[in-house]
Amino acid sequence: MDILVIGSGGREHALVWALRRSPGVRRLLCAPGNPGIAKLAEIVPVHADDIPALVQLALRERVDLTVVGPEQPLAQGIADEFARHDLALFGPTRDAAALEWSKAFAKEFMTRHGIPTARYAIAGGEDLPQAHALLDTFQLPVVLKADGLAAGKGVIICSSADEAHAVLEEMLSGRSFGKAGSHAVIEECLVGEEASVFAITDGDAYVLLAPAQDHKRVFEGDRGKNTGGMGAYAPAPAVTPHIMQTVVERVLRPTLAGMASEGRPYCGCLYIGLMLTSQGPRVIEYNCRFGDPETQVVLPLFRGDLARTLQAAATGTLREITASHWRFEDSATAACVVLAAGGYPGEYKTGNPILGLDEAEGLEGVVAFHAGTRLQGADLVTAGGRVLGVSAMCASGGLARTLQRCYDAVQKIRFENMHYRRDIGYRALGVSSSSNRNEQ
Ligand code: AMP
Ligand code: GLY
Repeated sequence: MDILVIGSGGREHALVWALRRSPGVRRLLCAPGNPGIAKLAEIVPVHADDIPALVQLALRERVDLTVVGPEQPLAQGIADEFARHDLALFGPTRDAAALEWSKAFAKEFMTRHGIPTARYAIAGGEDLPQAHALLDTFQLPVVLKADGLAAGKGVIICSSADEAHAVLEEMLSGRSFGKAGSHAVIEECLVGEEASVFAITDGDAYVLLAPAQDHKRVFEGDRGKNTGGMGAYAPAPAVTPHIMQTVVERVLRPTLAGMASEGRPYCGCLYIGLMLTSQGPRVIEYNCRFGDPETQVVLPLFRGDLARTLQAAATGTLREITASHWRFEDSATAACVVLAAGGYPGEYKTGNPILGLDEAEGLEGVVAFHAGTRLQGADLVTAGGRVLGVSAMCASGGLARTLQRCYDAVQKIRFENMHYRRDIGYRALGVSSSSNRNEQ
C-alpha cells in the first residue's frame, strides 16, 4: 500500500513512524513533512492547505490512502474533494468536521443527542445587550469560547463578571479572533480532571485508542497560557474501564449515530476531549483529527496494523478489523514531553541549533518526534514554538519508569531558550501540584 500523510508536525511524524511499522506499507509520502519525517518518508513540498495540489499529488503518485493530520484542510473540505476524485482518504468531510470547526454546532449537536456537556448559551454579535444578559445567567467562573477554529487560543475562563463582559464584548466584536469571533459560546465551568478518548471510525464501527491526558498550560502546575499541548501520557489512569464504558455508551456511540442520522457520517479519528466531573464524564470539545501531542503517546501503544486500520476506516470496512487494538490490561505506558522555544505560545525565536538528538534517541524506547524543526545546511535548527516531542515507552514498569526514561532523553537535548514542563504525568503519579486550573 502507498500512503500519503498530510501535515508537518509532531503528530504527523508519529503517524508516519507508526505507519512505517505496518507490514503492508510500500511507499510513504508526506506533504510537506519535516526533517524528522524525511528520515522515514518521501517529503513532497506541498502545503497542507493546498487541496488542489494535494489531489494532483495523490493522483500522480497513485497513492492508495491519504491520512490527514491537521484540522485546517479538513475544515476546508479536503475529504469531499478527494472523494470527488475517487481517492481514499482518512478524515471527515467538511460537514462532519464541523464538530471541531464550529463550537456552536458541536454544542447544539450534543444537546440534540443527549450527549453530556457543560450547560451553554450561544451569543451573537448582532444583539449585544442580549448577549450580556445571557452571560449574567451563568455563575462564575464562566467560560467564553470564540466560535470557529482559533488553535486552542479561543477559550477564556473568566473569574469576575467585569472580565467576562469585557471578554465577551471583545469576542463578539471580532477584533481578537477575526472571523472566529462573530459568535461566542458561553459555558458553565466544569471542574475535574481532563482526559481525551480517541476512536478511529468509519462512521459506524470504531477502534478505541488508549485514553490520554494532555497538558495544555505552558508552565508547571498548569499555570500560564494555553498552548497546543506541552506533553502527554497514556493510558491516563483517570479514565477507568468504567468511565471508558460510559464514554463509549453516552458519547461515542450517540455521536456516531447522531452524525449519521443528520447526514454527516463521521469517518476519521474522533477526538473526544472530556472533563471527568463528579457527575461523570462531560464533553469539553470534539476534535476532528488526532491530538498533538497525544498521538505521540497513543500510537506507540497501538498494537494492530495501523495502515490497514486507517484504510478500513476510510473505506467503510472497519467492521472487518475485529481485534481490539488497545486493552486496559495492557501494561505498556507512553509519555511525551514537548520541548518548546522560550516565549511560546507568545513570540519566540527560531533558527537555534538543536544538539544531542542522536544521543537522546540512542536510549531504549525513545523517539524524538519533530514538531518545529528545519535543516539549515547540515544543521538541524528550531523552526516553531513546539520544537520536539520526546516520547518514551515502556512495556512494563508503570508510568513513573516511562517518565524517567523520557526525562533522561530530554536531558540530552539542548537548544537556546529551550523550555519544557518538568511535571508531565504528575496527576497520574499522584504528585500534588499547586495547580489552579481556573487561573489564567
Ligand atoms: P477547548 O479549545 O474547547 O479544548 O478548550 C481549551 C481548554 O479550556 C480545555 O482544555 C479546558 O482546559 C478549558 N475548558 C474549556 N471548556 C471548559 C469548561 N466548560 N469548563 C472548564 N474548562 C474548560
Ligand atoms: N493537544 C490538543 C489538541 O490536539 O487539540
